[in-house]
Amino acid sequence: MNVAVVGTGYVGLVTGVSLSDIGHTVTCIDIDNEKILKMQQGISPIYEPGLSGMMIKNINEGRLYFTSDHKQGFESAEVIYIAVGTPEREDGSANLSFVEQVAKDIASHAIRDTVVVTKSTVPVGTNDKIQSIIDKNLMYPVNIEVISNPEFLKEGSAIYDSFNGDRIVIGSNSEEAASTIEEINKPFGVPVFKTDIKSAEMIKYASNAFLATKISFINEISNICERLGANVEDVANGMGLDKRIGDKFLNAGIGYGGSCFPKDTKALIQIAGNVEYDFELLKGVVRVNQKQQGLLLEKLSERIPDLKGKRIAVLGLAFKPNTDDMREAASLVVTEELINVGVEVVAYDPIAMDNARRILNDKVQYADSVEEAVSGSDATLILTEWDEVRNVNIGVFKSMNYPLIIDGRNCFALEQMKDNNIEYHSVGRPSVS
Ligand code: UGA
Repeated sequence: MNVAVVGTGYVGLVTGVSLSDIGHTVTCIDIDNEKILKMQQGISPIYEPGLSGMMIKNINEGRLYFTSDHKQGFESAEVIYIAVGTPEREDGSANLSFVEQVAKDIASHAIRDTVVVTKSTVPVGTNDKIQSIIDKNLMYPVNIEVISNPEFLKEGSAIYDSFNGDRIVIGSNSEEAASTIEEINKPFGVPVFKTDIKSAEMIKYASNAFLATKISFINEISNICERLGANVEDVANGMGLDKRIGDKFLNAGIGYGGSCFPKDTKALIQIAGNVEYDFELLKGVVRVNQKQQGLLLEKLSERIPDLKGKRIAVLGLAFKPNTDDMREAASLVVTEELINVGVEVVAYDPIAMDNARRILNDKVQYADSVEEAVSGSDATLILTEWDEVRNVNIGVFKSMNYPLIIDGRNCFALEQMKDNNIEYHSVGRPSVS
């Protein structure tokens, strides 16, 4: 089929590239012309394993196109995906102005019956709003059917997830439009769950909120474990054996970050509030997450009460491994606080260094390796569980002024630290001193 995808962020680009890979002819549209020119040459604006190779292959095979011209992009489209951002407003609600603009653009340019698929995460009721904006602004007498098809991919494994997802959710008022989208996705071989539009919109928020709840839950358990001398990893493993609980998303750490959980949890609290429902549990989840980021620094200042002038290595800046994304990363809060108390911060991340330089400028020093970052430092903080950090030769920590590691991601076994005489404070596990 001929498909157009509006928005080439993580969701849009991965959707477009993977749809082209299963045989559709896809035009990705974005208002950022500079980005479009790069993508036309097969250069991906984001780091995502497998994405660049798949882009180049499908461009070369004549199935994948990029343009900043909506009219051109919509010309032959039978299906149009909306995958633009829904950033957080100051009050926590989702800003829908980009989505609404795309709806108007579709209405101005659609010259044939089209299925419009909303991939962007939008509050319950938005797809009905999109439908009415389109219907009101249509330039030609065509039928546009808006359906909800929320995205569940994870950054860092987005391509893998497209082909191996747990489900594809299709929310629609039209059986025919739902079948078109089911058909388009068939080659992925992922189970399809069909429902009404509002329930599909809610499935997306409820899923992210539930996963965030699991994380905040295990983080609270980890804080209690620390006080009682229990080991949260064993607790999580033991809990996870119960299939009703499951073993995923029970890694205690410094709290969730990224472009989705922080934004979507707050948005769902807003959505509930709009219908006069106080989502108390989710409010707690958000509060626990904010508290969790601060605990790492509390541990550091307990060990080094006067941090001024100290050299602290920060390993990992991305909000999680295998991505260069630093949106809502714990590293932003942690480095900011360290800088505020006069610490000399030396940071290293295997992939996110370019983004870090753009965001943190010259407020921190940048190292080219784990070794360089930790050398001569008074303490090492671990913020992202990169394999490069997990598998580092432990000997490198001997080059610190004093071997003190505060690990927000439980990268090392306690025995390993004990054997190497490293003072080690991790999350929800006994300290090694
Ligand atoms: C998340 C969801 O997992 C996806 O299903 C969803 O499609 C996506 O949001 C979205 O709404 O677009 P993502 O933000 O890419 O995906 O990353 P996750 O792997 O879910 O991690 C989110 C945060 O939770 C990270 O900061 C991670 O370090 C943290 N986390 C995750 C934990 O602290 N503990 C865990 O056990 C798991």
